[in-house]
Amino acid sequence: MAYLIGVDLGTSGTKTVLFDETGKVHGSVTVEYPLYQERNGWSEQEPEDWWHAAKTSISAAISQSGVDAAEIKGVGISGQMHGLVMLDKAGNVLRRSIIWSDQRTAKECEQITDLVGAERLIAITANPALTGFTASKILWVRNNEPEIYEKCAHILLPKDFVRYRLTGEFATEVSDASGMQLLDVPNRRWSDEVLDKLSIDSALLGKVYESPEITGALTAKAAAETGLKAGTPVVGGAGDNAAAAVGTGAVRDGLAFTTIGSSGVVYAHSSKISIDPKGRVHTFCCAVPGAWHVMGVHQAAGLSLRWLRDTACTPEMEEARRQGVDPYVVMGAEAEKIAPGADRLIYLPYLNGERTPHLDPNCRGVFFGLSGVHQRPHLIRAVMEGVSYSLRDSISILREMDVELKEMMVTGGGGRSPLWRQMLADNFHCPVKTVDTKEGPALGAAILAGVGTGVFGSVPEACEALIHGDVIQHPLEANAAYYDRAYPLYRQLYQDLRESFVRLAAL
Ligand code: XUL
Repeated sequence: MAYLIGVDLGTSGTKTVLFDETGKVHGSVTVEYPLYQERNGWSEQEPEDWWHAAKTSISAAISQSGVDAAEIKGVGISGQMHGLVMLDKAGNVLRRSIIWSDQRTAKECEQITDLVGAERLIAITANPALTGFTASKILWVRNNEPEIYEKCAHILLPKDFVRYRLTGEFATEVSDASGMQLLDVPNRRWSDEVLDKLSIDSALLGKVYESPEITGALTAKAAAETGLKAGTPVVGGAGDNAAAAVGTGAVRDGLAFTTIGSSGVVYAHSSKISIDPKGRVHTFCCAVPGAWHVMGVHQAAGLSLRWLRDTACTPEMEEARRQGVDPYVVMGAEAEKIAPGADRLIYLPYLNGERTPHLDPNCRGVFFGLSGVHQRPHLIRAVMEGVSYSLRDSISILREMDVELKEMMVTGGGGRSPLWRQMLADNFHCPVKTVDTKEGPALGAAILAGVGTGVFGSVPEACEALIHGDVIQHPLEANAAYYDRAYPLYRQLYQDLRESFVRLAAL
């Protein structure tokens, strides 16, 4: 039997899962780490925390499984996209990573648009300049911390830093590199034009591979630290969304998925490149060699509910402890008792600004319509509905672009809630499904390792064999009709508040 490891470097923790070639889980360990938000709109993490979490979770998953390390054929890594890791000549970390959710770089985005030109930028990188993406973070460090930029010899994405520590190689792969705003996305290689115009030396960047390709092998030092065998191949892997696509089987035209993780994502596979000229959704290379995906990203999906849990739901957390269940189960049960619309309470999930569809770093969260009748369960329901409306914004754009959406899978922590999935079915006007495996990106990364090392013939072939549909939920007519009436008001609220968000940011 061949075994494969998938490492998924998320925002709240790194999860390592050890699978056999049938997709069965033999070991699964998550190690968490902090998120530093020292100013409103800033988000940073410590790359050394990621490495610590990766090596300890790999070693614990191997011990838990009892599998002989010699039987592990390969390792795939997936991870949060866009984060900036800067290393000096000796490979030491120069500063904390500025991660995907950080919104400090509005000025740098203007600079990028001026230097490259708005249309050229979309034609080459398939996206407008975005605060979430890596290029603007690089410019921010150059503008604000020149002494650090001067020492920088290597720029890596979060998961590629872990790859460097595992293999000693400076490398990345097309799906994650697409989110740096330095890749020529139609041609799947670094863009000399963008690098020249931004005066970024291409020697700072790693070599670009396709996702299933082998990028290096475990060094003896990393083998000693992780319990893996020296020489074990490490494949490209993928950004978390492209890896989740593989892990849910969304690897052919017509297949799509929605993730409610910290961020919210609506993702559709596309064998031909398709770019929104307004840049409201991202087009990236996907983990299937030669294909792309179109995706809407919402900054605070699961994060919104986590924020509510942590700031207001102490009684639900205590009840969950008494029942021995996850707090979200108790919160979901309370929200379920409230009718659609939460008694006319609408939540805008813009805790961290918003990407799709507004591309606005200034907007912030709103409860609209608060009244004395509203209790915590109304707030919970309104947050889940507001996130569902925001995901519906992505669906509207993908439909406008004629991207084929035949099947919608739902994943991520929030996707475990039947209530939340029902809200998606009601808002998307289409059935939503879960898949029988819950490992998403970690399974996707392991499948890529299996393809790269010859355990599987191709990505679609492996998905066909390993991943199957599970529960289906259909839209409920009465709910869908209510949401159809409420959604235009949700949309209007942002328009009404846009100027006020700018004033709020300037206070
Ligand atoms: C995608 C994005 C998020 C992060 C964090 O563009 O920013 O999905 O990858 O998960």
